[in-house]
Amino acid sequence: MLMSAIIGHRGARGLAPENTLQSIELAAELGVRWVELDVMLTRDQVPILFHDAWLNKLSNGRGQIEKLDFNALGKIRVLSPRKVKGGTSQPLATLASALERIQQLGLGLNLEIKPTSPDKDLLTLQLAVRELKNFPGLPLLISSFSMDVLYEAQRLLPQIPRGCLWEKLPKNWLQKAKDLEAASVHLSTSWLRRSQIEEVRAQGREVYIYTVNSKRQSEKYFAWGATGIFTDYPERFQPFIQDRRR
Ligand code: G3P
Ligand code: MG
Repeated sequence: MLMSAIIGHRGARGLAPENTLQSIELAAELGVRWVELDVMLTRDQVPILFHDAWLNKLSNGRGQIEKLDFNALGKIRVLSPRKVKGGTSQPLATLASALERIQQLGLGLNLEIKPTSPDKDLLTLQLAVRELKNFPGLPLLISSFSMDVLYEAQRLLPQIPRGCLWEKLPKNWLQKAKDLEAASVHLSTSWLRRSQIEEVRAQGREVYIYTVNSKRQSEKYFAWGATGIFTDYPERFQPFIQDRRR
């Protein structure tokens, strides 16, 4: 198995400010063995963890990440999820700081390369790889919605497994997965059918589903053959999370 059955989505996104060190730490406390995090570049090309191209929705700041230098982001705080009472906002995490913490906590990382715009695809991957090379033993899987990113990952880090990230399984998925030598396929719940999971599994690839926040839903996908799920709420999967530990 490439990752674990229960993967903390953006750390523990439902419980702490997403893609922050606090979110990673909380996921680990809750027994998660792998986390998924999104990486993008600031204007001065620092890889940071963030999901949106704009600061507005997830933080106390305004504007586009790609138009701001890292220093200008120093005061930015990622907001605590609304439902969490008394939660504190958290600083943006650099990829470098996250990798260090992940290593300390003994976690695995599914790094999703999330360029702020298509023309930043390859550079985002290249600069993330530069950081990843400082952590050679870290359990790692790279995924992206961008096929170009995955081809570049294949070239730069051929030994690191790659996951194709799709909203919906494309008709020509197998050819793409073969070309990329992708080890896994990551699919959204939105268009998901049992036959898709079965088809991918029959072709020897693992299947990870995002985002699954109820145990009942997860049981359905596991019965369909899913290898793992991404969840915002790892605490909902206790003690299942322990049973399904790698
Ligand atoms: O990698 C799984 C999932 O995170 C992909 O979607 O938008 O949450 O990054 P998104
Ligand atoms: Mg993601």
